[in-house]
Amino acid sequence: MLFTKRQESELITAIKGRGEIPLKFVYLGEGAHNWDALAGGRTENGGINSMEGVLLTSKAADFIGSFNGVSKINVIDIGCGNGYPGVPIFNELREQGIAFRYVPVDISAELLNLAEKNVHEMFPDTEIKKFHLDFELGNFSDMTYALKSDGSSNLLLFLGSTLGNFSDRNRVLTNFRDSMSSDDYLINGVELTNFAKINKILSHYSLDVVGDFLYFIPEQIGIKRENTDFNVVWNDRENQVEMRLTLKKDARITIGNESFKLEEGESLFLARSMKFAEWSVTKLLSDVGYRNELLTTNADRSYMLSMVQPTRYIV
Ligand SMILES: C[S@@+](CC[C@H](N)C(=O)[O-])C[C@H]1O[C@@H](n2cnc3c(N)ncnc32)[C@H](O)[C@@H]1O
Repeated sequence: MLFTKRQESELITAIKGRGEIPLKFVYLGEGAHNWDALAGGRTENGGINSMEGVLLTSKAADFIGSFNGVSKINVIDIGCGNGYPGVPIFNELREQGIAFRYVPVDISAELLNLAEKNVHEMFPDTEIKKFHLDFELGNFSDMTYALKSDGSSNLLLFLGSTLGNFSDRNRVLTNFRDSMSSDDYLINGVELTNFAKINKILSHYSLDVVGDFLYFIPEQIGIKRENTDFNVVWNDRENQVEMRLTLKKDARITIGNESFKLEEGESLFLARSMKFAEWSVTKLLSDVGYRNELLTTNADRSYMLSMVQPTRYIV
């Protein structure tokens, strides 16, 4: 079974309500391998977010420096993917002799297993504790609180521009905030908009490997790829790349015990990838109630990492 009962209800409601297949479902089951193929390997091998990896590597010591005198850190990798994006942080912790526990958090059991395997291969002595959950549904303070019972500190990672995939970014960031105490940190990595390169960005999203990844759920529920058009557009008002399919024939959708028809000409929203500006990420984080500890971009301003903390007092 690919979906839980709750996920079936959420998927049916999203299709019937707003014509959308929520992107998060694409990582379930076999979809995890499609993501792994798209994401690629470790930074040095030029994975999908190699820009992020290079920046994180060059600034890892500064980020870790904020944890003054701490002897053990729980690296909570939210939306862990294949586990490789956090490697620059693990290397730095290792270098500084700070013990760490790797805590991948994901909706996909398959990606949790893959991240565990990959990180274990590189850091065989490191304790790994996986959490299988959907972070859109609420905070996970029970887990973050319990992790600190041995006196360790929490560092949350939200890497790979994942923030740009959600329609309600405040909700996601609020769930993280409510899972943090005022001495925990969150590092968020996002791609910035470079208007000069919009056409180049769009061509990346039209690649077959992106299609293979995004068509996983449509094909599971009864939509044949050859009976659709795949369309990628830049939405200037929302600052995001949008990916949709449009049916060239009627399709019978089956999810769990429910079956219904979608008609020729109907479109389904498959994914968004919002691009940010330095000010818009900073404002978003601040509106949710985070203070900024460190902010850094790469030389051509195409990627940004920010390290933030919940605001306890007005600063
Ligand atoms: C864009 S990928 C990024 C993966 C990794 N951080 C990277 O940088 O390569 C998004 C990740 O978040 C996970 N994810 C997406 N939505 C989620 C949700 N609502 N709850 C838990 N995990 C989610 C996916 O399964 C996937 O591992």
